[in-house]
This record gives sequence, structure tokens and C-alpha cells, in this order.
Amino acid sequence: NTGKLWGGRFAGGPSPELEALSRSTHFDWRLGLYDIAGSHAHAKALGAAGLLSEAEEAELHRGLDALAARFRDGSLQPAESDEDVHGALERLLIEEVGPEVGGKLRAGRSRNDQIATLFRRYLLDHGDVVAGLVLDLVDALATQAAAHLGEGDTEPAIMPGRTHLQHAQPVLLSHHLLAHAWALLRDVDRLADWRRRVAGDSPYGSGALAGQSLGLDPQLVAAELGFTGSAANSIDGTASRDFVAEFAFVAAQIGVDVSRIAEEVILWATREFGFVTLHDSWSTGSSIMPQKKNPDISELARGKAGRLVGNLTGLLTTLKALPLAYNRDLQEDKEPVFDSVDTLEVLLPAFTGQVATLVFDTDRMAELAPQGFSLATDIAEWLVREGVPFRIAHEVAGACVRRCEELGIELDELSDEQFADISPHLTPAVRSVLTVEGSVASRDGRGGTAPVRVREQLDELRGRSAAL
Ligand code: ARG
Repeated sequence: NTGKLWGGRFAGGPSPELEALSRSTHFDWRLGLYDIAGSHAHAKALGAAGLLSEAEEAELHRGLDALAARFRDGSLQPAESDEDVHGALERLLIEEVGPEVGGKLRAGRSRNDQIATLFRRYLLDHGDVVAGLVLDLVDALATQAAAHLGEGDTEPAIMPGRTHLQHAQPVLLSHHLLAHAWALLRDVDRLADWRRRVAGDSPYGSGALAGQSLGLDPQLVAAELGFTGSAANSIDGTASRDFVAEFAFVAAQIGVDVSRIAEEVILWATREFGFVTLHDSWSTGSSIMPQKKNPDISELARGKAGRLVGNLTGLLTTLKALPLAYNRDLQEDKEPVFDSVDTLEVLLPAFTGQVATLVFDTDRMAELAPQGFSLATDIAEWLVREGVPFRIAHEVAGACVRRCEELGIELDELSDEQFADISPHLTPAVRSVLTVEGSVASRDGRGGTAPVRVREQLDELRGRSAAL
């Protein structure tokens, strides 16, 4: 007996080629402790249903504990002949407790409900890890935002806000950084929402697809494994993988959100922008150019976003049009998502370190903030407050820009006469909005860039992130 789970009806063993194709222990071994936890819970259900004596159940728990200890210290390993983590652990359990007792554990369960349960448990745990790491990044962004909000004599840092990558309107640096933080906070919220659904659906008790006939209590197993409920439909319990796809989506969205920060850091660190300096410990050098300091963390973040999106699309493609119930195609659901988990767990700590140690050149940002006529909207809105219809105000402000371009000057360099010449509405009082400080202070509606509002949203963000 090779320890196969399904020898009975076959005259010969599987070909080596089939075994090589079929084997999944090289990636599903990481689910070992979850499989063992599932077996503990299943043994309890068998005991509660009167299918194991107390001594037998105790012996199974002892054997499983022994396997878990060896799994943890790395001495437990699958054999070449093991097809998957479930088969390997059953073989090893039988080696530990003997075939008489060990052979009883498989009753009333299938690898189909086993894997569907373990994978959920694994993702629930790693979803929590990833959520924690994203919250660390949110926190780093919030800390940077707080540090640049100004206090006492220091003014809040102002930067050129952009649309189409062109200078648009001045904004607070803190406001910009918090925009990234809000996006990431929604990702954490998505994970919390996903978690509630996944935790309610323990598939144990679904069997291969049709349920089990042995009087086992799936709710007992669910509670043992930390689920809040068990699957209402055994076919759905074994055949659905939307919980995997949804996780892969959130992972991809996190990757995309991080890549948007990454792209900005890369731009900001160029000589042309000169907005940030990277900390030595969070940037890299060149093997040939001694002067180089490269934003490798951000570039890797940008690159890994592609990989995370690929994992999602690959998985959805595998799932598309699969008939009910379990099909072996579903074994392909693990590697992409394991990769997404591993990618985020290595990427996020590095990225957070880079963000936390960014040094902003706020003088450079402030110098550029009013350039490119970014106060033109302020002129138009000032005119509106003076009673001029916006359509005309927009024309007048546009004429100011045109005049400045002809003269090669900035808006605040127009003389009182030049303003009056463009429009009689443009009295010298317009100068009150021709400073970046006046501009940002005027955008004081909820969500706006006025310092008072940005302080308010920082508090709001911190409150929400503490509640997640
Ligand atoms: N290793 C399989 C998977 O990952 C579980 C085993 C189910 N195999 C089967 N022949 N029913 O999906």
C-alpha cells in the first residue's frame, strides 16, 4: 500500500507522469496546521456522533498533536508518493497511531470539504495579517500628514496639486498624502467585509458534494474552527471559490493603490521634481554609477501590482464556466493566492518603511505651488463672490493667464492697472487670493484643502482606522 487514499477499485498504481502532474504537496503543505486543526474538530464530531470511543478520540487527538509538533519544528515532511497535504497527513497519522484508529478519521469527510475549509481558514488568518500591514501604511501616511500640517510658527506645507499631471490648484501636502490613506483604508474595510462572509460558511460536513450520512454536526466543527456558521448548501460549500477570487481582488486593489503612491514617489525623487529625498536604508545604489540613489522599493511595488492583478485574472479564468460541483481544476486556486499573500506580506513592510522615512523638500514644493497659473480658479471664484457670473469670471481669469503668458510673468505679478485693463471687476482686492496660503485657506468646505479641514479629516481617518 503506497498510502493512496483511493486504491480500492484500481488494479495498478498511477503512472509516475500522472503522479507528477497531480501532486500538490509542494504548495499545499503550508496548509498542514490548518488540516490538523480540521482533523481535531472532525474527530470531535465523530466522537459526539458516537462513531469513536472516548479512548479512540483521545488517541487521535494525541496523534494529531504529535504531528503538529513535528510540523512546527520542520521535521514532518510529505513523501514523493503523497498526492496532497490531506493524503500525506493521513498517512503520517496512521504511522503515528496505527491503522485501526487512524483509519477511522476519514469517515464522513472528503478532501473536497476539507480543502474548502482549510483554504478559508488560511485566508482568514492571512487576511488579518495583510489588513494589519495595510493599517501600518495608513498610519505612516497619517504620521507624515500630521508632521506637515504646521504647528505654532510653522505653516502647513503646500504643494502643487495636479490633474492630468499638470499644475491644477495648490493643496496641502497633508491633504494629498491622506488621499492615499483613505484609499488604503477602504481596502482594509473590504477585507473586514469579506471576512464576515467567509467566516460564516464552514464547508466541513459537505462531504464530497452531497453532505454526510453519519449524523455529524457541521455547526460543531464550524465553531471548533472559529467559524460563525456552516455552509447552508453542501454543493456550494465544496464548489465555490468566490471567497478566493474576492480575496485576490482585494489583494490586487491594495497592489494598485500602493502602486499609485509608488509612482509618485518615483517622480518626486527625480532631480526635476526634487520633492523628496529617500532615506539611505530604504533606497538602493547602482553598481556602476556611484552617485545613484534609486527608489527600488517603489519600483518593485509598481511591478508587483502587475503580478497581483495577474493572480486575480488567472484565478477568475480558472473558475469561469466550471460546472458544479468539485472539479480538479480547483486545485489551481491556491498558488496564485498564496503568491498574492506572500507578495503583500513582503512588500507592505518595506513600502511602509520607505514612506515613513521620506523627507519632503517643502520649500521646493511651496515655490512651485503657485507656478503654472494654479491660482486662476481662485481669481474666478473671487469674482463670483463679487457677484460676477461664473461664465464671465472664467473668461476674465483666462484672460489674466493669457496676459501673463504674453508677458512671461505669474498672476501675482500683474499690476493693478493690468488687472483693471483686463476687467473693471478686477480691483486690487483680488490680490487677497493670489497667494497659495489664501487659496488653500479659502477651500474650507468639508473635504477641502483648508488646514482646518485637513486637520479634521486626519482625526476622522484615525478614528475610522482605529475602529477597523
Ligand atoms: N488537492 C485538492 C485541491 O486542492 C483537493 C483534493 C480533492 N481531490 C479530489 N480528487 N477530489 O483541490
